[in-house]
Amino acid sequence: HSLNANELEILSDGIVGVDEKGKILFKQTGSLEDALLAHGSYYNIDDENTIAEVEIVETVGNQFFVPGFIDTHIHASQYPNVGIFGHSTLLDWLETYTFPLEGSYTDTNRAAEVYNKVVSRGLANGTTMASYYGTIHVPATVCLAQIAQQLGQRALVGRVCMERFCPEAVQDASIESDRDFVDKVLALDETGQHVKPIITPRFAPSCTMETMKGLAKLARERDLPIQTHISENSREIAWVKDLFPECENYTDVYDKANLLKHDTVLAHAVHLADSEVEVIKKRDSGISHCPVSNASIASGIAPIKSYLDKNVKVSLGSDVSGGFTTSILANAREALLMSRLLSERTGNSNDVLSVGNVLFIATLGGAEVCNASNFVGNFAVGKQWDAQLINLDVEGSPVDVFSWQLPKDPVERIEHLVHKWMYVGDDRNTAKVWVDGKLVVDK
Ligand code: GUN
Ligand code: FE
Repeated sequence: HSLNANELEILSDGIVGVDEKGKILFKQTGSLEDALLAHGSYYNIDDENTIAEVEIVETVGNQFFVPGFIDTHIHASQYPNVGIFGHSTLLDWLETYTFPLEGSYTDTNRAAEVYNKVVSRGLANGTTMASYYGTIHVPATVCLAQIAQQLGQRALVGRVCMERFCPEAVQDASIESDRDFVDKVLALDETGQHVKPIITPRFAPSCTMETMKGLAKLARERDLPIQTHISENSREIAWVKDLFPECENYTDVYDKANLLKHDTVLAHAVHLADSEVEVIKKRDSGISHCPVSNASIASGIAPIKSYLDKNVKVSLGSDVSGGFTTSILANAREALLMSRLLSERTGNSNDVLSVGNVLFIATLGGAEVCNASNFVGNFAVGKQWDAQLINLDVEGSPVDVFSWQLPKDPVERIEHLVHKWMYVGDDRNTAKVWVDGKLVVDK
């Protein structure tokens, strides 16, 4: 698990103790017996027999635990379109593929069918928390929150607000719809740790300044997070400049609208000027890096390592269906590859991301961006057990491990396995998934 952007802690003989509410009680190394006895009062261990009452999940062979992935930007409603984008780029992709599909979510039954599939697919890929875009439709988007809750995935769920430059079927910027949506989702979960509404102006071109200011006010009044897109594609950026001539740049549009706060998720951030990065950092907002989407609809390469070096909060987003996969593992891999291409272009070796860097943005970085790092993101004592058991030996695994090639040193051995998983693995290797200590996937 990640301690920070640069430190991946590998406990080759680690033991994590979890209570019945899924909270991590202890994390230590050494023998299982010693660990259980040291916490014997919690486990009511007074003689050898009672140890059997503790459920023990042990790694065997080429297995290890990692924290659950956090997908900080995914359009659940666009899932039927994965893989379907032709040669389009952002603005014609929205017109051709995206708006017509989103318009169909007046049909809540159809929405439920899609949302069941996309949440299940995310969980099967190890995603224990996601920040979702639904559509403008309140009933369908409430349904998304209910499905995430039923299937046991943590979710920030956004009703999309948009009012212009799109077909009428996907226009609804009424603040009443947002209030209605917020009340309904808040009623599902009073803790806010499982499902929570997130205020969602689609992106600057979709909304007037007045509407964005109204949404920012609502988010601040109700203490809710915000998500939107920023600086994804060069034509989009030029368009924003035309639409908001009074603003210095894309970031300034959101800043003037009061949308930038500590729990604002900004998807893409591909082409930001340094001065924009400074403002985002000053407001403590976070970035969702969406590398598969940025490659697919040819948006560009975001300089993620430089954001990390500037201590800007960064996470990973699948951006389905700009991105064609719900897999955060695939996005972490793409982030690695794109950073290497960027470094080749800039000549700056410092642009290269490490495996540790991308595991951080896939987990703890996501928790920081979603304002959830006080309860998830790594295996720190006191957080909730949101975790994946990775098994490289599973039947049908795409990963081949050669035991004679494994380093002798136990930590280096795990490192070797993590690299294999990162570059070669897929959801077949995600054997079990827990959220809040509860097993939600068992393959
Ligand atoms: N910008 C505005 N809407 C969208 C969307 O649905 N996906 C992506 N990737 N960018 C957007
Ligand atoms: Fe998006």
